[in-house]
Amino acid sequence: MKLAVLLSVKQSTLMTKSFVFCLLLCFLLVPTNSKNANETDRLALLEFKNRITDDPLNFLNSWNESAHFCNWPGVVCSRRHQRITSLNLQHQKLTGFLSPYIGNLTFLYQLILDNNSFMGIIPQELGNLRRLRFLWLRNNSFDGEIPANLSACSCKELRHTCTAEIKDSIPTSRIILTLRENS
Ligand SMILES: *[C@@H]1O[C@H](CO)[C@@H](O)[C@H](O)[C@H]1NC(C)=O
Ligand SMILES: *[C@@H]1O[C@H](CO)[C@@H](O)[C@H](O)[C@H]1NC(C)=O
Ligand SMILES: *[C@@H]1O[C@H](CO)[C@@H](O)[C@H](O)[C@H]1NC(C)=O
Ligand SMILES: *[C@@H]1O[C@H](CO)[C@@H](O)[C@H](O)[C@H]1NC(C)=O
Ligand SMILES: *[C@@H]1O[C@H](CO)[C@@H](O)[C@H](O)[C@H]1NC(C)=O
Ligand SMILES: *[C@@H]1O[C@H](CO)[C@@H](O)[C@H](O)[C@H]1NC(C)=O
Repeated sequence: MKLAVLLSVKQSTLMTKSFVFCLLLCFLLVPTNSKNANETDRLALLEFKNRITDDPLNFLNSWNESAHFCNWPGVVCSRRHQRITSLNLQHQKLTGFLSPYIGNLTFLYQLILDNNSFMGIIPQELGNLRRLRFLWLRNNSFDGEIPANLSACSCKELRHTCTAEIKDSIPTSRIILTLRENS
């Protein structure tokens, strides 16, 4: 009897332990990550919008809570993760600065801002975007240099083209980079 009780106590602590362990595991495995990540993308877009000082075509008005950010104009998301893969805002007459939050869009594959009036620096944070392949910033008014980190430009095959393009385009106007053509 005593043994049985002891056993069941042992068993139940074991069960509690494995229950707690399981809970912990579940907590770790449930995609809290992706939830945070898509929130990071949404926040990055809002910060991007915050740094726009003039939007005469009201293009960014529809970047509001009435629709999921994946459906905001100019935005394309990956279907599976609902992470932003493309941001294409060319020809929208936008004036402003490029927010460093752009560097949090870790799934970004292309960033196309041709033919706007972006000014100020090109944020270093773009160097965080390992998936970025197309960075088209033609006909804007950026100052300063391409972030060192980008111009080191895992360009592989295209290294020469890429370097040439960078030299031509500093400090402004014709920045068009195709990154990591090979990887
Ligand atoms: C983020 O992802 C989570 C889990 O996949 C989902 O429940 C939530 O609605 C998403 N939020 C946004 C803003 O996309
Ligand atoms: C919010 O976006 C919708 C389109 O998604 C647009 O029709 C509406 O006017 C926007 N609201 C504001 C306050 O700009
Ligand atoms: C995103 O980027 C900004 C500026 O680069 C940073 O301050 C912020 O903490 C980053 N992380 C998230 C989760 O928004
Ligand atoms: C640059 O953009 C302006 C409008 O912002 C446009 O009038 C001009 O034609 C563009 N130039 C080039 C070389 O694309
Ligand atoms: C910018 O716009 C002008 C006129 O709208 C067009 O001729 C030019 O090709 C555009 N430039 C780029 C880099 O898209
Ligand atoms: C660029 O620098 C940042 C830190 O400033 C780093 O996290 C990132 O990995 C670098 N990117 C490349 C392509 O080296």
